[in-house]
Amino acid sequence: MADKKARLTVDGLDEVIELPVYSGTIGPDVIDVRPLTGKGLFTYDPGFVSTAACDSSITYIDGDKGVLLHRGYPIEQLAENSHYLEVCYLLLNGELPTKAELEKFTYTISNHTMVHEQLSQFFKGFRRDAHPMAIMCGVVGALSAFYHDSLDINNADHREVCAYRLIAKMPTLAAMCYKYSIGQPFMHPRNKLGYAENFLQMMFATPCDDYEVNPILARAMDRIFTLHADHEQNASTSTVRLAGSSGANPFACIAAGIAALWGPAHGGANEAVLSMLEEIGDEANIPEFIAKAKDPDDNFRLMGFGHRVYRNFDPRAKVMKKTCDEVLSELGIENDPLLKIAKRLEEIALEDPYFVERKLYPNVDFYSGIILKAIGIPTSMFTVIFALSRTIGWISHWNEFHSSPNRIGRPRQLYTGAEMRDYPAKK
Ligand code: SDX
Repeated sequence: MADKKARLTVDGLDEVIELPVYSGTIGPDVIDVRPLTGKGLFTYDPGFVSTAACDSSITYIDGDKGVLLHRGYPIEQLAENSHYLEVCYLLLNGELPTKAELEKFTYTISNHTMVHEQLSQFFKGFRRDAHPMAIMCGVVGALSAFYHDSLDINNADHREVCAYRLIAKMPTLAAMCYKYSIGQPFMHPRNKLGYAENFLQMMFATPCDDYEVNPILARAMDRIFTLHADHEQNASTSTVRLAGSSGANPFACIAAGIAALWGPAHGGANEAVLSMLEEIGDEANIPEFIAKAKDPDDNFRLMGFGHRVYRNFDPRAKVMKKTCDEVLSELGIENDPLLKIAKRLEEIALEDPYFVERKLYPNVDFYSGIILKAIGIPTSMFTVIFALSRTIGWISHWNEFHSSPNRIGRPRQLYTGAEMRDYPAKK
């Protein structure tokens, strides 16, 4: 129930339109603009800058304060004290698991990690030099051809098993993309290993040798997964929700999310950051790149900088920077040249009036690539890792959407085309 109202007057309309105002648990109130349609009006908000497209109880962001909460828990505490699978359970179910619930969840996920042998054949249709995100879009969408037993979106049990399958199979598919690109045999998942350990094993082990997972790298990998797990109604999550609103099956919806994530303004930024740091090449060249980023006539943007919601530090970037320092020092990479450039670039940008006035800070993608590179992950796989990690966010939002009454998403427009005109008579 709305206990507040907004009142709107519009030139040419001799009535005051009353609009209900709703309050969430925390965060800005929202004005319910739906009554406007009946008055012949739409709202106009390209880029969804001030539009709440749904209500959700999964994740909360306070962009001014740099706060990110999953089901109420601050991301810093989850990154420090929890781990990815526990965060997956939390996002999906709303509460932290008990010990027994976590054991059962972990067991279930580890027993869904294999993909259908027939799916492995799909890879052969791709060029070896295909971008792994192109392959991911294809093979994740193809999952819908394999699991007909769980595609009833109105059945909560079906939705649950789809979520398990996706969380479990994404690392397997991601590692297969990498193995395919380098011409090595696919490595099967090992159920005894933890989630991040298993991913590293499938990425870097070969059938010829014993492979021991480095616990430091596994911990860093798990933290990267955790930091990317969900982020409210970002472009890819909104895509998944919109695709889901038509009743499309979950695997197709997640494939749509992967496509939306791929762009450099979104998840593709982690790959773009590393390319940018390599292109800068030397601290002495930083001012030239800063000048390009500030030039309105130049399309270049400082990758890993700026965010639609954060007008302060992205809290994930702070944890990422700390993790980066820890990982590089534990691996004995004390003087990583790209890290030096990144830190200096951050210092310079944070003092530059252009970035200060626009409140542009490093985002989640700024330091993640340096850690991934230190772990040995090739740059082209960075966005795949983001997609793997974000799958839990996507599927949690998709599930939330289908857990209550809903409607197909159907934005309207401000039409600026030709008025109605007659097709010219044939001469
Ligand atoms: C992610 O939404 C999410 O939650 C996403 C995400 C998630 O977890 O899901 O957090 C993941 O996508 C992180 C963002 C990764 N992208 C990048 O790092 C690419 C570089 N950043 C940008 O292009 C940009 O900041 C965006 C896309 C992230 C945000 O775009 P907005 O909100 O539309 O902001 P804008 O482009 O309108 O910027 C406002 C001003 C503009 O200047 P003016 O026209 O006002 O003079 O700031 C400038 C922009 O030109 N600006 C930048 C800049 N980012 C914004 N100028 C230089 N370098 C930049 N990086």
